[in-house]
Amino acid sequence: MQDKRVLLVIGGGIAAYKSCELIRLIRKAGGAVTCVLTEGGSQFVTPMTLAALSEEKVYTSLWDLKDEAEMGHIQLSREADLVVVCPATADLMAKMAAGIADDLATTLLLATDTQVLAVPAMNVRMWDHAATQRNVERLRDDGVIVMHPDSGAMACGEYGEGRLPEPDAVFLEIESLLSSPFLKIPGAEAALPLDGKHILVTAGPTQEPIDPVRYIANRSSGKQGYAIAGALARLGARVTLVSGPVSLEAPRGVDRVDIQTAREMETAVENALPADAAILVAAVADWRAEAAPRKIKKGASGTPELTLIENPDILAGLAKSDRRPDLLIGFAAETDKVVGHAKAKLDRKGCDWIVANDVSGDVMGGDDNAVHLVTADGVESWEQASKTDVARKLAQRIADQLGGS
Ligand code: CTP
Repeated sequence: MQDKRVLLVIGGGIAAYKSCELIRLIRKAGGAVTCVLTEGGSQFVTPMTLAALSEEKVYTSLWDLKDEAEMGHIQLSREADLVVVCPATADLMAKMAAGIADDLATTLLLATDTQVLAVPAMNVRMWDHAATQRNVERLRDDGVIVMHPDSGAMACGEYGEGRLPEPDAVFLEIESLLSSPFLKIPGAEAALPLDGKHILVTAGPTQEPIDPVRYIANRSSGKQGYAIAGALARLGARVTLVSGPVSLEAPRGVDRVDIQTAREMETAVENALPADAAILVAAVADWRAEAAPRKIKKGASGTPELTLIENPDILAGLAKSDRRPDLLIGFAAETDKVVGHAKAKLDRKGCDWIVANDVSGDVMGGDDNAVHLVTADGVESWEQASKTDVARKLAQRIADQLGGS
């Protein structure tokens, strides 16, 4: 973020006030922000507020000839390392998708060759509307990164998807984009520590069918594994993410292989080899049932009994395989004696590191994690942090271990 420049386009929605906090977060992290305010945006925040927060001139009009002399709109759009549209209203996204350039903001967005991140905010029905969804799809096809809006209560009194994500989340996205090897941005093209490495990550739960409509599963959300896959990709690795059913989008630049059961995960892991490192974050179901071919009907023959069969241990199998990655990392989900169980797991599974987490609270599905890194050299307890930060730290450790920077 240090010395990076963000061009922030502020559209006309009530969420515009949150862009003020975003400016503060970027500035605090050492970045610079140039604001472009649409006419609609100026109904919600003033140029004065934005100028005070960014400590820079705020641009509002295409017809300000003095600005054209000072800094042409083309130059303004290309000087930035990243263009962020926040809030991106339905109207602004429609114009972007159609290539309309009828004010300063839309002209900049059409003229730029810099990566654009759009952060949508609108009423739930506007977000759900086929026209908006079509525009979002078109923008994504055109290479614009469109964040998914939050859901919850809205300023208009309705409830649903369409809320602007919190400034912290937008800031994290900006931060990770600015360090992404996949962006054509100045300064991000230097060699990365995991360039040329292939890393395998498993994430999410597995689902073990009982019959065509029922299954055994667990509470894993996949967030930690997805964050690790993304962090490794940002350090330059080619990442294969073998994922159980989750409601997350694959991080940019990551190859995702979708599976449902533990045995499918085992096959997908084998197919992804060879790999320089493997991090098995998935919460694999330890047991499966003998799945009935047809839906088990209630009352036909009393309460059905489930006979459970043990699933293959993918981590232990990989540790013994002759294609074992140089660095093999397991996760340990524990509810008690976290470090003790993790140490035992390190030996039992034959991996190099175990990342142990206490899942007795709301870790599964939550956004934070407190982990212990257990290796042959000892135990390191990391402070509680967001799953994104844990991922970043772990990815850096992996890069160090694999002989990167
Ligand atoms: N794991 C695996 N295959 C399984 C079960 C677990 O690859 N069938 C991996 C997980 O991805 C994780 C590690 O093994 O990296 C530990 O998983 P965990 O569920 O904590 O351990 P279990 O093997 O289930 O052991 P226990 O039941 O004793 O906790």
